[in-house]
Order: sequence, then C-alpha cells, then structure tokens
Amino acid sequence: MARVIFDRVSKYFGDVIALRDFDLDVHDREFLVMVGPSGSGKSTALRLIAGLEEATSGRIFIGDRMVNEIEPRDRDVAMVFQSYALYPHMNVFDNLAHPLQLRRVSRAEVEQRVRRVAEMLSIEELLNRKPRELSGGQRQRVALGRAIVRDPQVFLMDEPLSNLDAKLRVRTRAELIRLHERLRSTIVYVTHDQQEAMTLGDRIAVLNGGMLQQLGAPQIVYERPANLFVAGFIGSPAMNFFEARLASRDEALFVEGSGLEILVPPERARGLDRYAGHEIVLGVRPEHLYERSEVESAPPGSSLEAVVDVVEPMGNEVFVYLTTAGQLFTARLNADADLRRGERVMLVVDTYKMHLFDRETERAVL
Ligand SMILES: Nc1ncnc2c1ncn2[C@@H]1O[C@H](COP(=O)(O)OP(=O)(O)OP(=O)(O)O)[C@@H](O)[C@H]1O
Ligand SMILES: [Mg+2]
Repeated sequence: MARVIFDRVSKYFGDVIALRDFDLDVHDREFLVMVGPSGSGKSTALRLIAGLEEATSGRIFIGDRMVNEIEPRDRDVAMVFQSYALYPHMNVFDNLAHPLQLRRVSRAEVEQRVRRVAEMLSIEELLNRKPRELSGGQRQRVALGRAIVRDPQVFLMDEPLSNLDAKLRVRTRAELIRLHERLRSTIVYVTHDQQEAMTLGDRIAVLNGGMLQQLGAPQIVYERPANLFVAGFIGSPAMNFFEARLASRDEALFVEGSGLEILVPPERARGLDRYAGHEIVLGVRPEHLYERSEVESAPPGSSLEAVVDVVEPMGNEVFVYLTTAGQLFTARLNADADLRRGERVMLVVDTYKMHLFDRETERAVL
C-alpha cells in the first residue's frame, strides 16, 4: 500500500505561502500529475512528501504511516529532479548501483537489479560509459534508472523531461507510461507542460497559488473545468473568454455580450435560471468554433460575426485569430479554411460544449 495523503497541509516560507490547506489523496499505484504555473507550489508538495521540507501545519501520510516526523531516508520514496545530477566520475553501472551499495545490498543482487533496470530503460549498452559520454536523453534515463533501482514505494518526479528536446520528450513520455505499467508503483509527477499532464496522468491535480484548483481524470478536467483558472490553464490553444451577461427572455436563456447573443440550449439551461441577470464569463474552446459555411444547420442563437486578424496554418488545421467587438479570440478550423486577414466571417459556437462561469466567484456554472 502506498497511498500518499496530504491532510490540510500548509507550508510557509516566511511570509510566502507555498501551499495552503492542501488536501490530496494519491491512490496506490496511481500516476498522478501535478500541474500549475511557476510558483504554484508543485515542487514544494513533492519536497514535503520526500521530507526535504517540513510542513508548517497539517499531516502527510505515505501508506498508513504519518511521515511528518520521519527522516527522508526512511520514507521509502525516490525523487527524480529536473536537474538530475549523475556522478561524473562513475560509469553508468556504478551510478545505478550506488543507491543500492549505500543500503548494503549484496553484490549479486546489485548486479541483478542494475541489469534489470538497464534493460527496462534500454541502456544496457551504456553501462560502461561515463555521463559525459551520453546524450541528454540517455542521461535522463540513467537518472530515472537510479530512482527505479531502489524499488521505492513512491516515485516523485519533478519535471524530469524538461531538459529534453521536443521529440525525445514525446518518446520518453511513452516510455514512462510503459514503465508505470511494469513497475505498478505510485508516481507523483510534476510538470508545467500540460500535454504531458494530459497524456501521462491517471488523474491530474491543478494547482494555483498554493491551492488545489481541481483534481480529476484529464478528460474530465478538460471537459468540465471547475473554475476560470483551470479552464484557462488546461487546453492549448487556451479557451476563449468573453465577458457577458445571462439574460432570460421568452422562457429562454441567452448569453449576451458585445457582439454576442448566444442561446443556451434548453437541455442545458436547467438550474441556470438563478444566474439570470448575473455577470458571467462565456468560455469557448478554439476547437468548438466552426465556420458557418461548413456547418449544415447551425441552431438559432449559435452564430457570431468576427473579423480575421491572423491566420496560422498548422498543416492539419489552421489557428485563426479573430476579433469581435474589439475582443481577440482564437478558432481552430479545418486546414482547407480559406480566410484572409481583414475578412468578415460568421462562426458557429458549439453551444453544447460552451462553458459559463460566475464572474464573481469564477466558478463554473455550466
Ligand atoms: N526555500 C524557499 N524559500 C522561500 N520561498 C520559497 C522556497 N521554496 C519555494 N518558495 C516559494 O514558494 C512558492 C512555491 O514554490 P515552488 O517551488 O513549490 O513552485 P513550483 O510550482 O514548483 O514552480 P516552478 O514551476 O517554477 O518550479 C514560490 O512562491 C516560491 O518562491
Ligand atoms: Mg518547481
């Protein structure tokens, strides 16, 4: 059993609040990804699990043990840092063997465990090389191997792929998924690359300002962001936001803003009445906008007129930056969309996928 639990944990550095009343329950064998902007408390959370920082208040559990008072070396966790440091004078084999030798594991077992991990990471051919004779990606794998060889209950990974180039990142990402399947151990993984979060995590925890904003399966967080922050942070290009008001007319609800009048589909309007008259924010993902001419029948109250500002062909699709009533927004359209700067275009909003947020509390209401 290796759950990791934060029970109302706060961490202060002087006046700086790095984590505030933080609750989180990482399941046994889960791959949990923490995301959030710089300074949101991600590394602090990992360092608290590892015992490299002490909580100001609250309790931390690994398995069934409360670990607040337990020394880092007795916590049975292994941490891979962004700036992993391999021992430069040791070859790969010795780098991998070192954590085991410190634990007085027998020579035969060290040999066996190092070989097994090297095979798992496809670095068997590199065991006799020194770190300086390795590529960035190979070094990264050795650093991972050094954590794996210890066979800890919990892996803590703090942006372990951030030194890799884009292509190698994607490959190593896939390797990590396979690795997790083989190891079946608990992994808490920090990144600010949200593509990494979406693809790696069983669940993702979104942090901002030392507070947990939302915890859930990646698809759920993408489809049902709990608040404006999560909505804007998850998804790339980011969700478009339009300031608006919710108006009730003829037994229907409309989202009204400058240049906007969008009908809330009746099936989705239930329970929204109480926000009639309120200031809200309409959220529309770029992928939920379509060219009117491409849509067979757009439901009434789903169109929006805009002027094309910039067109960015991506090969398989185009990102179009547009303005409506002075507000800039983005649409992801079909690759064959033939749009020019300055052109007027009618767009259709997929109103079944749009989001509404209470402007005051910033919470999602639809
Ligand atoms: N040792 C420290 N002393 C003082 N303040 C600290 C210390 N460590 C972290 N902080 C502060 O705590 C907050 C959270 O920092 P943390 O390193 O956890 O952020 P992060 O989410 O990992 O950011 P990044 O994505 O940039 O790595 C920040 O405001 C940071 O400046
Ligand atoms: Mg960090």
